[in-house]
Amino acid sequence: MTNNIYFIANWKMYGGTSSLSNLNKLINLSKLKKYSKAKIIYFPPFTLIHNFINKVKRSKISVGGQNCHHVKNYGSFTGSISPKMLKDLGCKYVILGHSENRTAGETNDDINKKIKSALNKNLKIIFCIGETLLEKRNKITHSVLKKQINHGLKGIKNFRNILIAYEPVWSIGTGIIPKENELNLNIAKIRKLISKKTKIKLPILYGGSVNDKNINNLKNISGIKGFLVGSASQKTKKFIDIIKKTIN
Ligand code: 13P
Repeated sequence: MTNNIYFIANWKMYGGTSSLSNLNKLINLSKLKKYSKAKIIYFPPFTLIHNFINKVKRSKISVGGQNCHHVKNYGSFTGSISPKMLKDLGCKYVILGHSENRTAGETNDDINKKIKSALNKNLKIIFCIGETLLEKRNKITHSVLKKQINHGLKGIKNFRNILIAYEPVWSIGTGIIPKENELNLNIAKIRKLISKKTKIKLPILYGGSVNDKNINNLKNISGIKGFLVGSASQKTKKFIDIIKKTIN
C-alpha cells in the first residue's frame, strides 16, 4: 500500500459552471512538495466532469464519476452514464455503493455488477459501505458490513483498483461522527473481512460529516487512509483546511 492520503470531494448534486473558479488555490496546493502524498480526487456532478478535467489537467488532482451504469459500454438506458463514457472523458475513478444510491434502491447485486464493469474499463472504485442508524441501534453493524462487502465484491479477483469507503449512513450530513472506539472497531472489522478476500491491503477511507474542525480527531484514527468529504468540500477553503490539518 502506498503512503497516499486520499481527500475525496463528493459534490453530489451541487455546483454549476461558475463553481470551478475557486479551485485555483487547491490546484496550487496540490503542486507543493509538502502535500505530495495528498491524493485529491474530485467527484463533480456529471454535467461538470468535462470542465473539471480541463481545469485540473496540469495538476495532480484526479476526477471521477459519482456513479455509473452496470452496462460497461453503450445501451438504451435513458439518463444513464456508462464506465466507458467516464473513461472517455478522462475520469480515473468512480464512486459505487454510495448510501444515497442504496437508499434510492440500488442493491448489493447492482453494485457488484457496476464494480465489475467499471473495473473492466480500468476505473478505480471507491466502494462505499456503512450501516444505517436503525442497524446501528439494532447492533447489526458488523453483519451489515459483512453482507455489503461479501456481496458487493463477489467474484472479484483483482483488488488492486479498489478502495473501501466506510460511511456510516447516520453520519452523512448530520454533523455527527462516530466515537473513536466505535470507528476503530468498525475499521478493524472491515480490514478483517477484506483480508479474507485479498492479501492486498486496500486503503480504507472514512466519510460522514468530515469538516475542518473534526478532522483533528479523525486524522489520528489509525487504519484510515483518507476522507470522503461531502458538504465541506464545496467550500474550497474548508477543503484546503482539511488537507492542511491532516498533513502538517
Ligand atoms: P457529508 O460530508 O456532507 O456528511 O457527506 C459525506 C458523503 O456522503 C461523502 O460521500
